[in-house]
Amino acid sequence: MIRKSLGLLFFSAALTLLSFAQEKQKGAPTEPVKLIRGPYLQVASSTGILIRWRTDVSSRSKVSYGTKPGKLDQATADHALVTEHQIQLKGLLPSTRYYYAIGGLKDTLQGNQDNYFTTLPEAGKTGHFRIAALGDCGDNSINQRRVKEQVIKYIGKDELTAWILLGDNAYSDGTDSEFQSKFFNIYKDDLLKKYPLFPAPGNHDYHDTDLSAKHAQETHETAYYQNFSMPVNGESGGTPSHTQAFYSFDIGNIHFLSLDSYGKEEQTYRLYDTLGPQVNWIKKDLAANKNKGWVIAFWHHPPYTMGSHNSDQEEELVKIRENFIRIIEREGVDLVLNGHSHDYERSRMMQGHYGPASSFNPKIHNLSTSSGRNDGSKDSAPYQKDPANNKGTVYVVSGSAGKLGGKQTTYPHNAMYFSDADHGGASILEIEGNRLELKWVCADGEIRDQFTIEKKAAKGHVPE
Ligand SMILES: [Fe+2]
Repeated sequence: MIRKSLGLLFFSAALTLLSFAQEKQKGAPTEPVKLIRGPYLQVASSTGILIRWRTDVSSRSKVSYGTKPGKLDQATADHALVTEHQIQLKGLLPSTRYYYAIGGLKDTLQGNQDNYFTTLPEAGKTGHFRIAALGDCGDNSINQRRVKEQVIKYIGKDELTAWILLGDNAYSDGTDSEFQSKFFNIYKDDLLKKYPLFPAPGNHDYHDTDLSAKHAQETHETAYYQNFSMPVNGESGGTPSHTQAFYSFDIGNIHFLSLDSYGKEEQTYRLYDTLGPQVNWIKKDLAANKNKGWVIAFWHHPPYTMGSHNSDQEEELVKIRENFIRIIEREGVDLVLNGHSHDYERSRMMQGHYGPASSFNPKIHNLSTSSGRNDGSKDSAPYQKDPANNKGTVYVVSGSAGKLGGKQTTYPHNAMYFSDADHGGASILEIEGNRLELKWVCADGEIRDQFTIEKKAAKGHVPE
């Protein structure tokens, strides 16, 4: 009897050892797995979201989720052993808060009351939407942290619907370790795990040290493209772009285009090459989304700036202004958001200015004498845009969410109503129905500029 039990014991011990050895062979971790990046939220839509995170060693992936914090009663898992974890949640309800936990098949890496996101509203629906735009943010400066803190303070309990990046997201070369220390580590606890992120690349995101900048412009083989997932197949609305470099998405009645002003398509074409693949896609996308309440385009290099860059002298800025922006103006884009210059510059509602700053004529190029402000100051009144002809665009440079300062001798640019290169800040868009408001929230909490655009049919005019 004893001999039999001992035999059984040896047999089961041998089995345990064998399965341990097999697990080890398969590469399963034997030490506790550590979370080193994320979670962060990508490719958001009204019914789905992609949750990404990174672990120190290869492990399996699981997201548990549910609409109540203590009751994560649904789960999606992936058995592949990876360090870059990506779990796609599908079949979610629109505009609904979900709590979630991430981990392996059995362990939880993170998941408490603070792990939640809200799905985007249904495309076309109106509501109260808030989108934060951060330009030139990732430099690990005190300014970067203060701007982030003030954005969080400003939004309070009324949370963000999403946030966007205007490029130069990790200085100086956009390497993976720079993204880790100057982007993911800074935003992980408050923005990345709660709010869907839609990025755009800047020139510094192409300066990965493993590759020459020129080469990276062509191959797009940089950390930026490895770190972020984009809705390239129309997952979030918009015309599929089939490239991570540029894409579009919908948030309720707002249509966004994220563009690439530094990379090259087909080894040749830049954003200002109007016969290139990106501009062809932009034309198609804008034509297909004319029925949207608002159309907002964002990319890195601004057509008008006299901050740390000069739009009269730098070739790519000149060409974007001369060749490209007439296309988006023709299609009635309401707002353009850029970075690159490390300041804040904001035009009035304008159209048709494609020359140097000296040729700007407010009587010709401004479509309104209003400041767009809504605060009782001189000439303050919301810009009125007739939805029938959709004429007029407001241009904003908001590139001081991290990097700060720099003025040309010709600062401020003649086209700008308001310029400030002394304070860091981020832009917060608040859109409700036919009213769009932008507030520039500074590192000290002060809102130094704001403007409003309203879209109402002119009296007696029957909208198409
Ligand atoms: Fe830049």
